[in-house]
Amino acid sequence: MHTSLQELLAVRGTATAPRFDIYASIHKGVRLMLTDLITSAGGVDPQDPASVQQLVDKVEAAADFCLSHLEHENTFLHTALERVQPGASQRIATEHVDHEQDIEALRHHARALPGCTAEERPAACHALYHAVCLFSAHNLAHMHLEETEHNAVLWAHLDDAGIMAIHGQLLASLTPAEMTMSLRWMLPALAPAERLGLLAGMKAKAPAPVFHVVLALARERLNDEAWGQLARGLGIPVATGLTA
Ligand SMILES: [Fe+2]
Repeated sequence: MHTSLQELLAVRGTATAPRFDIYASIHKGVRLMLTDLITSAGGVDPQDPASVQQLVDKVEAAADFCLSHLEHENTFLHTALERVQPGASQRIATEHVDHEQDIEALRHHARALPGCTAEERPAACHALYHAVCLFSAHNLAHMHLEETEHNAVLWAHLDDAGIMAIHGQLLASLTPAEMTMSLRWMLPALAPAERLGLLAGMKAKAPAPVFHVVLALARERLNDEAWGQLARGLGIPVATGLTA
């Protein structure tokens, strides 16, 4: 990718009033996941099998998350974009094909680490670190294009109710495992008001057992301050968070 920073930062959205941003929350989660992966790849101890295995597991989880995310974008968002403006998703769809290959290359690289000799492993770990960094860099620029160029098309052709309907179809297609994976990264990545809005919506609409599972995940993933703020906003006890 050779897009300049000036080009990436150019405002392409055409909305004059705040519009529903279908990408915003999940992309915050993806960005946090990628920064965590970079940190883990940089901090791995090549001579500690447990540390190396933890990194391998993290790369596998990141690969699953990225693959699931781009497949949902292809199925629901690109279909909508092509319906309202043929060709609108072409550039990003091509990048998704590249990302699928990159994701498999990362998996392949990570899976080979435990089989390296002690002498080979430091260089192999450093090479994986570089690969993770470049993959993340591509994805960060890619997501920015989606949030500007794709949103500009969606906002020009659809009202918020129409975009929310697409979002609803996408969410309804997620498996419980995909939903948990998304929330695992979205919950700590969102701003407090966004997090409260998401959980308040679930409290109102989701079955109580499902909401309690999400609350337990939030308690696990948030620091004490963020959790306290969320619990107070939801009107639930800060101490347990399990009594809605
Ligand atoms: Fe994408």
